[in-house]
Amino acid sequence: MNSYKFPSNFLFGVANSAEQSEGKKDFKESSTNWNILYDKDKNLFYNQVGSFITNDTINNYKNDLLMLKEIGINSYRTSFSWAKIFPKPNHINKEALTFYHNYIDQMIKNKFKVMMCLNHFDIPDWVVEMGGFENKKTVNYFLDYAKLIIAEFAHKIDYLSTFNEPIVPIQAGYLGMHHWPQIVDNKRAVQAAYGTILSHSVVVDYFNKNWKNKIKTQIGIIVNISPALPKDNINFSIDDKKAADTYNLLHNYALLDAMAKGEFSEELISLLKKENILPEYTKEEIELIKTNKIDFIGTNYYNPFRVCAPSIPLEGNGVSIFNKYAQPYLWDKAIMNKSRGWEILPEMILNIATIIKERYNNIPFYISENGIGIENEEKFRNQQNKSIDDKYRCAFINEHLNFILKSIHELNVNCFGYHVWTGIDCWSWMNAYKNRYGLIELNLTDNTRKFKTSAFWFKKIIESKETDKNILTISHYLP
Ligand code: BGC
Repeated sequence: MNSYKFPSNFLFGVANSAEQSEGKKDFKESSTNWNILYDKDKNLFYNQVGSFITNDTINNYKNDLLMLKEIGINSYRTSFSWAKIFPKPNHINKEALTFYHNYIDQMIKNKFKVMMCLNHFDIPDWVVEMGGFENKKTVNYFLDYAKLIIAEFAHKIDYLSTFNEPIVPIQAGYLGMHHWPQIVDNKRAVQAAYGTILSHSVVVDYFNKNWKNKIKTQIGIIVNISPALPKDNINFSIDDKKAADTYNLLHNYALLDAMAKGEFSEELISLLKKENILPEYTKEEIELIKTNKIDFIGTNYYNPFRVCAPSIPLEGNGVSIFNKYAQPYLWDKAIMNKSRGWEILPEMILNIATIIKERYNNIPFYISENGIGIENEEKFRNQQNKSIDDKYRCAFINEHLNFILKSIHELNVNCFGYHVWTGIDCWSWMNAYKNRYGLIELNLTDNTRKFKTSAFWFKKIIESKETDKNILTISHYLP
């Protein structure tokens, strides 16, 4: 708890993404990697709900943005859908462009800072067929897509980011079974990660050379720095510490070093060499990556990782490089969100701020997503006014905000905003609607919306620019 205040220009907002909220309308868009996974096996998705059931932003954005305005937010982030804009290679869908113009104009009308992301876990089916970011041709198509977005919309966008959490599709799709292509293959994972870095770099290079001095738009990247800790962070061996360092290297730094500083660290190169999984690259590409210069980092933060040295050696390409070097460690004293299996540790905001200050040259950053969703939120419904009384969410947000204030005032970092994930309950990948994250409830039966307690609470925080001194800690409210 502290009595610091947020700066008057601090950005309070909410975050969202195209696939998770827009819905499909007659745009003749292509299907996405998520539709492909669903068609392969709908049982992969909670209650067999795929991204065809959303809060239908396409038809509701005006009202939705007005409701968010009532909460008092001053910034809004979502992503463009590549599949809607380019349903086929080189084929621009004008209707989709019109939708995004109307949507963004409405954000501006509500006086929100506009934050848009080019890619948030969804790729068109024709990119899937090409092999996603493993195929270098995808880099060119991604640049074409970015060029179109920049020419059409950049003058309306305040913060443009290339990717959201670029490590996640790699870790969850090439080293796990939660995203397409559902394989465990370290070599292919590194190639896809490299293709993602290159795609980011060509866009940043194009933007900086052609647009930077002409418009106010800032360009950056949204990552998810989630510090890895050795066991309980008190009693651990040298090997446990090494495991945590390797996890941090792979999860937090491998992509961000390249995307924010144009560098690949010596540790990373020697690890990839040792594993014989260096990607295919050219000198020209590495030179291009070196020129990367971004204006800001957005970092999503939900949970830390606890790891220890593997108890038995794991070998072979079928073993994810993460598991080979670091085994997940379950600490019995951790405060957990059991619905998600994620530990809650707000103080990690200080570690993240320190990493940004020390490793990324104190670049301006914001917490681009933070929030909590619990299974069966229905149990929090207030029987009198019938709304969801989600004090647990208020407590969760409050504790994280306290550490943001501490990092701004005591670490002197340039943290310029905080975005809750999310405004209105939305579809959440394989978890579909299992855990609700919104400040506003979505009724899936009749598509209506209703403010939760957290919406009114967040409004007070935004107005006062202070955290709540009376609320109890998160563990008090967790079921
Ligand atoms: C992702 C969101 C997702 C949220 C909750 C974040 O890592 O960016 O798309 O819905 O986690 O699972």
